[in-house]
Amino acid sequence: MSRLSTFWWQLVAHIGALTPLALIIWNFTQDQLTANPIRAIQLRTGRSALVLLMLSLACTPLSKVPRLRWVLKLRRLLGLYAFTYASLHLLNFIGIDYGFNLALLRKDLAEKYFIFLGLTAFICLLLLAITSTKGWQQRLGKNWQRLHWLVYLAALLVITHFFLSVKADRRAPLLYGAIVLLLLLVRLPGFLKTISRRRHQFKK
Ligand code: HEM
Repeated sequence: MSRLSTFWWQLVAHIGALTPLALIIWNFTQDQLTANPIRAIQLRTGRSALVLLMLSLACTPLSKVPRLRWVLKLRRLLGLYAFTYASLHLLNFIGIDYGFNLALLRKDLAEKYFIFLGLTAFICLLLLAITSTKGWQQRLGKNWQRLHWLVYLAALLVITHFFLSVKADRRAPLLYGAIVLLLLLVRLPGFLKTISRRRHQFKK
C-alpha cells in the first residue's frame, strides 16, 4: 500500500474516532442528551471506548490476511483513541458525577463491583498507552509484546464491567463479549496457521 493510501486510511480513522465525541458535544449544546445527560455521556463514552478497543484488536488478525498488512498502521491510533474515550468516561464519572468526592467514590468502589472492574481495565489501558511509543518498544524488547497481551485482559474486564452495569437487557454486552472472545481466539498460537493450512488443503 502506498504512503498516500495509508495517509487516507489514517485520516478516515481519525474522523471516525472523533465523530462520537463531536456528536456528544453537538447533542449537549442542543440539549439533546436525554433527561440525564451525565449518564448519557457515561454510556456513550464507554461504548465508544469499547468499540475502538475492539477495532484496534481486530487489526492484527486482519493484517494476516494477504494485502491487508497496512491495517497494522491503524492499531496504535485506534488503541490511543480507545484510551482517550476511557479517560473521558472516567473524568465524567469522577469529576461530573461524583464532583471529586473521593469518600463517596471509595464507598461506591467497594459496593459496586463493576466500577472496580472498569478501573482495573483503565489501569491496563493506561499502561498500554504509556508504553505504546517506539522508545518503550525498544527499551522493553521482547517483554513489550508480552506486556501488550494485557490488551486482551483489559477487553475481557471491560466486557464484564459492561455486563454487570446493565440491569435488564444483556444482549448487547453478550454480543460484544462474543466478538472479543472471537478476536482472542484467532490470536491463540497456531490458530491462524491452522486456518490457512486448511484453506490450502481445501483449494487442492
Ligand atoms: C475508569 C474506570 C471506569 C469507571 C468508573 C466506569 C464507570 C461506568 C459507569 C458508571 C457506567 C454506567 C452504568 C449505568 O449507568 O448504567 C459505565 C458503563 C460502561 N462502561 Fe465504564 N467505567 C470505567 C471504565 C471503563 C472502560 C476502561 C471502558 C472501556 C474501554 C468502559 C466501558 C463501559 C461501557 C461499554 C459501558 C456500558 C455502556 C452502555 O450501556 O451502553 N468503562 N461505566
